Amino acid sequence: MPQTKKQTINSILNAKGIRKLSMITAYDALFANLFDGEVDFILVGDSLNMSFGGNSDTLSITMENMIYHTKAVCNGAKNTFVICDMPFGTYTNEEIAFQNAMSVYQQTSADAVKVEGGKSRAHIVKHLTENSIAVVGHIGLMPQNFRVEGGYKVKGKDENNIQSLIEDAKAIEEAGAFCIVLEGVKADAAKIITESVNVPIIGIGAGLDVDGQVLVWSDMLGFFDEFKPKFVRRYLNGAELVKQSVQNYVIDVEELNFPASEEKY
Ligand code: KIV
Repeated sequence: MPQTKKQTINSILNAKGIRKLSMITAYDALFANLFDGEVDFILVGDSLNMSFGGNSDTLSITMENMIYHTKAVCNGAKNTFVICDMPFGTYTNEEIAFQNAMSVYQQTSADAVKVEGGKSRAHIVKHLTENSIAVVGHIGLMPQNFRVEGGYKVKGKDENNIQSLIEDAKAIEEAGAFCIVLEGVKADAAKIITESVNVPIIGIGAGLDVDGQVLVWSDMLGFFDEFKPKFVRRYLNGAELVKQSVQNYVIDVEELNFPASEEKY
């Protein structure tokens, strides 16, 4: 349902148990403007390093890159709560995290930042929130751990891991995160984790029993067609539509059908 008012941290917190929240990623003003007012929040995800930058993982994106894209998204989505992903290596200790998050706040109008990590990063979340930065957590499958874990590994497969994820969620909730992204977690485990905290859990590949969903825009609109993760639903065949349109344009150019008389000065 279109959002009539820009969300706030309180309205997001209060949605838990009342209605499901929707989040989508965006990397530029053009698409952000199309999503503006339609979703509860927009995430400028570091996934842009892959789908926008053509890299094989998220690790090489810089703070400068993220700030550039976040500015563009904020320009396009003036009525939507915007979250900027903190890149790999930009929150390795409390002071570095604060300096980088402060740059996001000072150079863009993003409403919050997102950091990956559970218990072991709770002190970073605490330091940021205590210094007036709004934080979204990210636990479960954490793409910034791609190399150290040797791939993207689904979580929540056994009791020990489920307990550890519950501890992660509770630790970052207690540290002040107002919302948590839960990625790549077995649906039964995601339900238990969602019930264990009072902040909204936004799932991606985490089943239905969470407080909301997030998808990467280029996956859900079918612009990225190299592969489709199991959890993605495609709402548009973007790649096919674009290719067909470009082919039609080339034919029109070759056959002198473009420009027509009304398209000339
Ligand atoms: O970077 C990103 O797009 C994300 C989502 C997958 C949640 O973190």
